[in-house]
Amino acid sequence: MTASSAQARAHPNIALVKYWGNVNDALRLPANPSISITLDGVSTLTRVCFDSTLSADQFFLNEQSRSGPALERVSNHLDLIRDLSGETRNATVRSENTFPAGAGIASSASAFAALTLAACKAADLMLDERALSRVARQGSGSAARSLYGGFVELHAGHNDEACYAEQLAPEHHWPLRDIIVIIDTTHKVTGSTSGHHSSWTSPFQAPRVADASRRASICREAIRTRDFKVLAEIAELDSNMMHAVMLTSTPPLLYWNPTTLSVMQTVSVLRQEGCEVFYTIDAGPNVHCITTQQDETTVQGALKTLTGVKDILRCGVGGSPTLL
Ligand code: DP6
Repeated sequence: MTASSAQARAHPNIALVKYWGNVNDALRLPANPSISITLDGVSTLTRVCFDSTLSADQFFLNEQSRSGPALERVSNHLDLIRDLSGETRNATVRSENTFPAGAGIASSASAFAALTLAACKAADLMLDERALSRVARQGSGSAARSLYGGFVELHAGHNDEACYAEQLAPEHHWPLRDIIVIIDTTHKVTGSTSGHHSSWTSPFQAPRVADASRRASICREAIRTRDFKVLAEIAELDSNMMHAVMLTSTPPLLYWNPTTLSVMQTVSVLRQEGCEVFYTIDAGPNVHCITTQQDETTVQGALKTLTGVKDILRCGVGGSPTLL
């Protein structure tokens, strides 16, 4: 057979207890457990075709041929799957995101989840979900969580077997909403991969990691009991702790801008007024405001008129990735 192909679709996710820092960068063994919500309405669609006529891997993102570090990262991930499966052919990878680049959604999560599923299928490698999540994790840590829908935890540990993702609750468990406030769509200056590395230069990283199991337990229980108030407090604390590490790393990473701060303050005021809403921020200036179906319209109304807000994207809790 000259060529074998497969196609998969995966959703991005937003972490409520965040992954920041590895105990092993090469294997992407996270220093702390993380918990996320898989997002619906946005996805990455990836087709992988192993083809014996190709002399090298090729990567197209939104129909544009990519070379350099982007191709290298995809090719390294294919190498891992080739090693596991015995597949020897090079591949063409075509990936499309349904959300704009720089929308404040980590595309590496849905990208490496979809790539893992499609490449394993095309290479005829049959792995269970847990093993697939470990493969995805080595492409991008947060991608392990996108192997499942709903509410998902990625375990931390000192070896590959220990660091797998699992579902805590399915998507219909709690119909939360994510109002993504888009403030800046330019590409971030420092990406997560180098941020994970420099996290250890911060005096706050060790205490943040030491306290992470406690935050994860509180978050897990708040999800189980659908306790919005507790979830809001722990998720904002966790996001603030990660940004405290970022700010105190060498070199310091400051992802916020004045609009980010005004969104954070507006969310606090809304909560004092009785709205169910909290913020969480990844490695960029855009803000994810998690709310309920009941308060979604009020939250969106209060945020869309703030100076500096470029756009608002609304997502619900999404399902597992699919092979097409
Ligand atoms: C702030 O998974 O993007 O979004 O493994 O280097 O691809 P790489 O990092 P990535 O890191 C995610 C960082 C975060 C928090 C989170 O999603 O848990």
